[in-house]
Amino acid sequence: MCGIVGYVGPRPAAPILVDGLRRLEYRGYDSAGLAVHSPSGIEIRRAVGKLRNLEGLLFERPLEGTVGIGHTRWATHGRPSEVNAHPHVSGDIAVVHNGIIENHVALRRELKADGFEIQSETDTELVAHLVQREVRRGKDLLGAVLETIARLQGAYAIAVLDHARPDRIVVARASSPLVVGLGEGENFCASDVPALLPYTREMIFLEDGDVAVLEADRVQLFDVRGETIERPRRHIDWSPAMAEKAGYKHFMLKEIFEQPRAIEDTLRGRLDRTSGDIFDQEIGLDEERAKAIRRVVFLACGTSHHATIAGRYWTEELAGIPAVTELASEFRGRNPIVGEGDLVVAVSQSGETIDTLVAAREAKKKGATVLAVVNVIDSAIARMADAVFYTHAGPEIGVASTKCFTAQLANLLMLSIWLGRRRGHLSAERCRELVEALASLPQQMQETLQGTRQLVANLAKRTKDARDVLFLGRGLSFPIALEGALKLKEISYVHAEGYAAGEMKHGPIALIDEHVPVFVLVPEDDQYERSFSNLQEAKARDARVIAVATSGDEAALDQSDDLLEVPRTLPQLTPFVTVLPLQLFAYYVADFKGTDVDQPRNLAKTVTVE
Ligand code: G6P
Repeated sequence: MCGIVGYVGPRPAAPILVDGLRRLEYRGYDSAGLAVHSPSGIEIRRAVGKLRNLEGLLFERPLEGTVGIGHTRWATHGRPSEVNAHPHVSGDIAVVHNGIIENHVALRRELKADGFEIQSETDTELVAHLVQREVRRGKDLLGAVLETIARLQGAYAIAVLDHARPDRIVVARASSPLVVGLGEGENFCASDVPALLPYTREMIFLEDGDVAVLEADRVQLFDVRGETIERPRRHIDWSPAMAEKAGYKHFMLKEIFEQPRAIEDTLRGRLDRTSGDIFDQEIGLDEERAKAIRRVVFLACGTSHHATIAGRYWTEELAGIPAVTELASEFRGRNPIVGEGDLVVAVSQSGETIDTLVAAREAKKKGATVLAVVNVIDSAIARMADAVFYTHAGPEIGVASTKCFTAQLANLLMLSIWLGRRRGHLSAERCRELVEALASLPQQMQETLQGTRQLVANLAKRTKDARDVLFLGRGLSFPIALEGALKLKEISYVHAEGYAAGEMKHGPIALIDEHVPVFVLVPEDDQYERSFSNLQEAKARDARVIAVATSGDEAALDQSDDLLEVPRTLPQLTPFVTVLPLQLFAYYVADFKGTDVDQPRNLAKTVTVE
């Protein structure tokens, strides 16, 4: 996730900005830059890679001013490069931005027609040109920012400098975080609290639609119409470590709770709710290619592999295309039959996992089309693929993947819907229904997290000493059962098995007794009746049964020892909500056991070695 910092006051701005950016490093970034007012104009320094590269540049060519903005970039539009790094400049205007502008294609077209030369691949540069155009039309900086944000769709936190007003920074936000820090004769802004803690603990958290003008001795707040507003001033007493985790004890817990937001960002600009469809532009494939596909082969490892099992089921049902899922490590090197007519979908959070990379490369060599579904822009798998469909979950720091898993599910479901529609398999009506259900997901995920957190924490306390835990699910709940077991193994070191519920009789049923907690996933879907029988079979063998069921399911309440309720959604979308209490369960068991939740023993976030 990008990080923004701004400073206006009497002190040299550059060291404060770099220090603030360093305190936002945990958010992840691939390039960084500063813009500072100097007597001759706004001066910019930008560098790809770590902050030390930017510092090296500042050592050679220092920035002198006392008012400036800084940015660490996590690429979303355009690969990591100096020209794509922020700040972006248009005439006398410099802008840094965190977020995703959805209507960037239309804005780019409009600005080009208006004679603007666009240097970068970013959506942010467009914001700089929009502000500049308004200034040229006679608006002051505040007015120009107000006009500009009226044209933006999507998420943004922006900070803007104008050479003509070297005493101020204008900031604005919608959906992306922005906090104003209040000092003595100096003021600050940042994406997140930790950047400001060494300088002030008095803060104002801006809300959606807020605009602020920061000068050294005052901060004025406005709404989108330019009317003055007030926001409460807060005193923040978090330690820097707590602040990085937004007050959560671990990154993993923070990332679990970030999921509604990660899904919203991943869906942003992809759902066409007017015509009830998925937009073409972001999928990376064209219609002709969609029609020519004879088979879809999913390749992935670990948690990403679990997402592809759901991807496979969706592809078969919604797109009507034969599909298989392969563990990348099993696929590579065995000379599998793959080639022309196959769409290989390589799914990876990091985009660097060696097995997935090598497997996808082998498939490409044999003539398959490779589509990457990755979270890290311009990563190795993104670069080798024929097309990329990015998840926008933001950087994930906990080794055990959570928010990237649900973001992968979102992309794989959108891909299946898109393929089904383009191939005439999915009716317009069904497509619209799925698109609407997807749009409601962030809210439903939020409800699930809030509704189950305490129950799951209590359950974890009671069951933390179990030696074995079983997770059972059918259909789309099968990969969720696997994921629930994997999460528990990874971070709490408790032995767990995820099983297709129908396979229970072929082995795991022998493990069941009163000491074994059994999670049974029974959301309302086409498999409900049969899954419910499995729940009863487990109960009949004295297992401690924990049902994950649709809220209001009386039978599940009656038959289970513990019930974790999830909101009703379309059967195709249940994995997004059923996985959440399982992630929380793994987290709380690990926390009660006192294991290293964010960095479990023997595991690595990115496996780039054989
Ligand atoms: C490691 C991580 C897992 C991840 C897997 C695949 O094992 O610890 O969380 O699921 O790699 O990683 P990828 O980046 O390809 O999704």
